[in-house]
Amino acid sequence: MSSHSAESVTQQEVRPEEVDLRVKIGPLELANPLMTASGTAGLGLEMEPFWGSLSVAGAVVVKTITKKARRGNPMPRLAETPSGLLNSIGLPNKGIDHFIAQVLPQLSGRAQCLIVNLAGGSADEFAELAAQLDRCEGIDALELNVSCPNVEGGNLPFARDPDVVHKLVRDVRNVTDLPVITKLSPNVTDVAVIAEAAKAGGTHAVSLINTILGMSVNWRTGAPGLGTTVGGLSGPAIKPIALRMVHEVVRAHPDLPVIGIGGILDLDDALEFLTVGASAVQIGTAHYREPGVLPRLLAELPQHLASAGRRSVQAQIGTLGAT
Ligand SMILES: Cc1cc2nc3c(=O)[nH]c(=O)nc-3n(C[C@H](O)[C@H](O)[C@H](O)COP(=O)(O)O)c2cc1C
Repeated sequence: MSSHSAESVTQQEVRPEEVDLRVKIGPLELANPLMTASGTAGLGLEMEPFWGSLSVAGAVVVKTITKKARRGNPMPRLAETPSGLLNSIGLPNKGIDHFIAQVLPQLSGRAQCLIVNLAGGSADEFAELAAQLDRCEGIDALELNVSCPNVEGGNLPFARDPDVVHKLVRDVRNVTDLPVITKLSPNVTDVAVIAEAAKAGGTHAVSLINTILGMSVNWRTGAPGLGTTVGGLSGPAIKPIALRMVHEVVRAHPDLPVIGIGGILDLDDALEFLTVGASAVQIGTAHYREPGVLPRLLAELPQHLASAGRRSVQAQIGTLGAT
């Protein structure tokens, strides 16, 4: 029997209903590996009309919450490019007190796993926000958006400085028992160095990547595409970069759980991230094309894995280079 037909026999053996979709991300156990990416699915509740129920997602990650309310950046905040979306939204939100009093009670119990993404202007502010969220019911984990500027550090993003990331994560860990995910920026020279700092600070996992700095301009008028001129690029254009960065972090830190983000539109994209070693993935810009993308991919996932002879999502994770 040729190796090709042996493979076919193996593939036929797995029935879609047998495929185990569960994954672990450090202390978090998810029913499936498909999560929302912060800022692209609102506060979660907005997705319910499209999904039927928020509980279909492995985890729902809410858009970044800050200490005080923020109005966001000047318009225009979105600019389309041929294979990606530029944004400079500027983290508009009503602040943490509003989130805890008004939004969290509505979200509680609706998602299988609820992750709150937060950003502060200083390491102390990150810890303050984490301590406040730690006292709330219904939150399963925190995701730290370290791509925002450090007001005390010359306005450079926290994500660029390993020492700052280390301190920030350590300070957050000191005030909460909730699992902590540190969301890494691609706008650095060596992302594995920043992952190392987050790990040393005690992060339970890292998620990557946030958007890549970019811009567009109308050459006739000189007008930039975004009100802030420079913003963040997301969508299909960034997937190869995101895959490379996930690979670099996994290779440097095989024991650090990684969540892959960047340009996922379909299941093949998602499974590529798992192949390079991510334990789960977040779906972002795809929601703007197809708000129901997450439940659709979830429905297709068992058949997709079974067709490749995989009995579980876990069996796919870290198979890069395996024949
Ligand atoms: C419109 C928009 C808003 C975003 N807002 C946030 C945010 O509030 N916090 C955050 O951590 N990331 C934010 N992101 C980044 C995404 O969560 C994700 O990391 C990035 O878009 C790459 O994934 P994608 O290519 O699947 O969109 C935003 C992205 C977009 C496109």
